[in-house]
Amino acid sequence: MDFHEKVVWITGASAGIGEALAQAFARQGARLVLSARNEAELRRVQAACAPAEALVLPLDLAAPETFAAAVAEVQARFGHVDILINNGGISQRSLALETRLEVDRRLMEVDYFGPVALSKAVLPGMLARRAGRIVVVSSLVGKFGTPYRSAYAAAKHALHGFFDSLRAELYASGVGVTILCPGFIRTGVSVNALTGDGQALGQMDEATAKGLAPADFARQALRVIAQGRDEATIGGRETWGVLLKRLAPGLFARVLRRARVR
Ligand SMILES: NC(=O)c1ccc[n+]([C@@H]2O[C@H](COP(=O)([O-])OP(=O)(O)OC[C@H]3O[C@@H](n4cnc5c(N)ncnc54)[C@H](OP(=O)(O)O)[C@@H]3O)[C@@H](O)[C@H]2O)c1
Repeated sequence: MDFHEKVVWITGASAGIGEALAQAFARQGARLVLSARNEAELRRVQAACAPAEALVLPLDLAAPETFAAAVAEVQARFGHVDILINNGGISQRSLALETRLEVDRRLMEVDYFGPVALSKAVLPGMLARRAGRIVVVSSLVGKFGTPYRSAYAAAKHALHGFFDSLRAELYASGVGVTILCPGFIRTGVSVNALTGDGQALGQMDEATAKGLAPADFARQALRVIAQGRDEATIGGRETWGVLLKRLAPGLFARVLRRARVR
């Protein structure tokens, strides 16, 4: 797939992976819709994407009642959406028992129901044109749960269930589904991660700090999307965990027990 002139809508475009994806698509001549809550940061990313055309469209993933109007705004500006990238999200750094249920629910709202609702809002337009791709940024934690990530892992696993089903339903419709599973990527994800009482952690993880640069992630992600692949893991050695879990689940469980990445 050639991204020139394609309309690419990216959530979580105000920082980190979403910002890097926006810049990578801009370099390929795509037309962008940049969404997240922080409008000032979206404007900064818009300027960094110039001369590519980019619509700043503030959106809260926990407010699905606003999505129909957002889709109408994109429709009015660009006429259609070629690629929706469900990237916006928040992580978690707290033990399950020390996490308030409101925090479990908040993570499900933003990380699961947000992408599901936005995809449902965008899909009819793609199906009418018999063309498009829904991309979902999950996580390695969407493939296996690790300590301190119970609700986050649940939300990311749920994405796989929903979007694998959707992909099968959309077979031969002209619309594809790609799930990306990042490992450690050097962004503010741990700084913004929720702790048990719903406050942000406010600290950079060591593993995240040593992770893949967002621009490198974006370069690999664009290749995966262009190839129309169903799913891909992108990151460092931590991505081997997916294979280890499949080939040696007992050994993998012992390794995970000792993992205290917070
Ligand atoms: N970095 C990693 O190591 C890693 C690993 C696996 C998966 N991921 C996934 O990658 C995606 C991007 O994360 P990141 O690493 O780039 O982290 P980040 O730097 O914290 O960026 C998160 C993005 O999501 C947006 N966001 C958060 N809550 C939102 C809400 N309620 N509504 C709309 N947008 C919201 C933020 O923008 P606003 O605050 O402006 O709304 C920001 O643009 C997430 O889905 C994350 O789970 C990251």
